[in-house]
Amino acid sequence: MIEIACPMLGPEEAAAALAVLASGRLVHGPQVEAFEAAFARRHGAEHGVAVSSGTAALVALLRAHEIGPGDEVVVPAFTFFATVAAVLAVGAVPVLADIDPETYCLAPEAARAAISPRTRAVMPVHLFGQPADMSRFESLCGERGLALFEDAAQAHGAAIGARPVGSFGGAAFSFYATKNLTTGEGGMVLTNDAGIAARLRRLRNHGRGASGLHEVAGTNARMTEMAAAVGLVQLERLADANAARRANARYFDERLRGVGLPRAVPGTTHVYHQYTLRLPASADRDAFVAGLVERGVGARVYYATPCHRQPALRAASARVEPLPETERASREVLSIPVHPGLDEAARQTIVDAVSALAERGAD
Ligand SMILES: Cc1ncc(COP(=O)(O)O)c(C=O)c1O
Repeated sequence: MIEIACPMLGPEEAAAALAVLASGRLVHGPQVEAFEAAFARRHGAEHGVAVSSGTAALVALLRAHEIGPGDEVVVPAFTFFATVAAVLAVGAVPVLADIDPETYCLAPEAARAAISPRTRAVMPVHLFGQPADMSRFESLCGERGLALFEDAAQAHGAAIGARPVGSFGGAAFSFYATKNLTTGEGGMVLTNDAGIAARLRRLRNHGRGASGLHEVAGTNARMTEMAAAVGLVQLERLADANAARRANARYFDERLRGVGLPRAVPGTTHVYHQYTLRLPASADRDAFVAGLVERGVGARVYYATPCHRQPALRAASARVEPLPETERASREVLSIPVHPGLDEAARQTIVDAVSALAERGAD
């Protein structure tokens, strides 16, 4: 089976983790500091604060900006549920808005329509590795006096022109096992604000400040030295790994017919966390996915149930905007393996399998 994700870990990561174990310094050490600095530099941000997961990064980012009860945060409905859950975790109200049908990212006009007097922030997601339309979000948030955050969990190394994602003021990344850069579990907040960075450092470490006192009720969201050591090696691999993802995407772009292909927005660097196909509305997606799996291609649907229809939202207070494109995408999309571990035989198997099923659908 060609898996949908494959962490690219080698002897360098193993050596880095073992060196930490041998050093005896497992937390609060030089690896975390070095990883924070290197990751921030790579993404054009001034400060990096490493945490234990992407979800912890999102929650810390919102808390550091004092977003909480009574506040609304506009997010896309078509994303991994953690985007929405993080807003709920700080006691704020997620406002679920629709996506652009081409990029699957939050649509700026939908976000604009979702703004109310209680809105404090807009948080697009760079979904599947495609940067959201940040210049329009910057204008919108500037005009309305709102904070702009990025859920960059799926977009390490992506860029808009020369500007990396993560540099727009407040961003959260995930280093979960399937991500373009992994530490097993882990996350990072990037910010250009020294005060916010200091708050983030407090929040992740039980709210403890320089005085040693617990200045706020924080949490334990620390990254370990082992994870950071692995992250540093992974960061060195990132450019090559993303280039391999893009080469795989180009291979599929040139060969696949009869299915909707992901369109990288011109002028942006899409890092293909997923390569997401769209089937015609009349197609039987379940049969298509099953057919791929039968042919050894580990296809998956991200996301069959959009956030507004998740059971967790029934008891939560959330606001739901009109979501026709979210609904359509959740019925029509599926993702095929695009990770850097694909060899020529795997790529050919994927193309043959998709082509056979697309042809069958066209009969
Ligand atoms: C868009 C998005 N946001 C947030 C997260 C949460 O990250 P984590 O699983 O590291 O908590 C993920 C991934 O898991 C994600 O894909």
